[in-house]
Amino acid sequence: MEQARRQFLQQSIGSLGVLSIGSWLDTASKESLLSEIRQATFDNPGPDNEEFWALIRQAYTVSPQIINLNNGGVSPQPEVVQRAMIRYYEQANEGPSYYMWQILDQGREPLRRRLAELAGCDPEEIAINRNASEALETAIYGIPLEKGDEVVLCKQDYPNMLNAWKQREKREGIVLKWADHTLPTEDTNVLVKGYTDLFNTKTKVVHITHVINWNGQVLPARAIADEAAKRNIRVVIDGAHSFAHLEYKIPDLGGDYFGTSLHKWLSAPFGSGLLWVKKSRIAETWPLFAPQEPASEDIRKFEALGTRSFPIEHAIGEAIDFQLLIGNRRKEERLWYLKNYWTSQVIKLPGITIGTPASPGWSGAIGLLQIEGMEPSEISQTLWKDYKIHTVAIVWEAIKGVRITPHVYTSLKDLDLLVNAIRKMTES
Ligand SMILES: Cc1ncc(COP(=O)(O)O)c(C=O)c1O
Repeated sequence: MEQARRQFLQQSIGSLGVLSIGSWLDTASKESLLSEIRQATFDNPGPDNEEFWALIRQAYTVSPQIINLNNGGVSPQPEVVQRAMIRYYEQANEGPSYYMWQILDQGREPLRRRLAELAGCDPEEIAINRNASEALETAIYGIPLEKGDEVVLCKQDYPNMLNAWKQREKREGIVLKWADHTLPTEDTNVLVKGYTDLFNTKTKVVHITHVINWNGQVLPARAIADEAAKRNIRVVIDGAHSFAHLEYKIPDLGGDYFGTSLHKWLSAPFGSGLLWVKKSRIAETWPLFAPQEPASEDIRKFEALGTRSFPIEHAIGEAIDFQLLIGNRRKEERLWYLKNYWTSQVIKLPGITIGTPASPGWSGAIGLLQIEGMEPSEISQTLWKDYKIHTVAIVWEAIKGVRITPHVYTSLKDLDLLVNAIRKMTES
């Protein structure tokens, strides 16, 4: 094991300069790796500092047998997060009702404060839950609306959210108005106009996906929200792909509601998420699971779920530690750097189109690859069959391609293999 690690490090990072590979290998514990990463951040490593990012890779336990470039689906967790989750799980099993409700549950308020610090908001606006779907459906079903009230959303929003709005349409007679974006684009005015053209006096809500999952397009959430605010329209923001990926503070997006999964870009345990509700909107919003006081101003009314996985929730704390160890800004820059690393090479090949905006601020890690004359499923199957590169084929509205999503643990070597594979496909 130790020898395999040594070999891996030698192959992947060659000769390390300031970072002492030897001292780390001699101390096997993950703690020493984390302190090595901490030390390395003092030199403010940039997005192209492969020595630093090789250390980050070591904190994960991803399989060396495959190259996982579908981190847009769900992220793996660093080992320290996995271990924490297992530790809490084992502890809970020593006496579930005692350890879960009397010990672990005591950590809920400190965790809320830490999440709020990360999100740049008041802890009294954060509810901890299981994923973006739960968070956003709480908002979608909870906003008081009457028959005939209009909601503006777009065809490129996430299916779970669209289905929730459609269910309200069927059940309660609200009216959905659909924007249809032509993507990719870096034109704020066009994107904003896509929504404002549909606003009228009956519009009560606008639903905005901050980063479109199909192609990684960032939408100008703040600019859309500002237009909505002028007309007293509530704003729901789907931050499933932007939280802990792009650097921002939730209130700065100008929304009334924000939901995200934490098992995506934060690398928290599978089945963790958060809902943010602007303080002034809490009382009027109906919870999905009824608490004793549904009209309460207490954000905790959105957590009346019953027995849930305390170990999963608790290990979110370790994921926050890991996120802060890297730093939000550094992570965003690295993720964009990785996307740009492969897209800037393959775009020069014949028949290649990238269906994602190129500029930082308009995109992060997610890139959509199109190869002329090849169906998305054919491309992703070839990547898997011939190279063991795991990606996902996307066909949604006018968006077609293979979504490629590296993460902080992805090495340039992996991306070199991807670039070569794409080159081969364009030659055949
Ligand atoms: C934009 C967007 N919103 C919401 C979700 C739902 O996330 P979850 O399945 O974690 O609830 C996803 C999942 O991929 C997504 O991409």
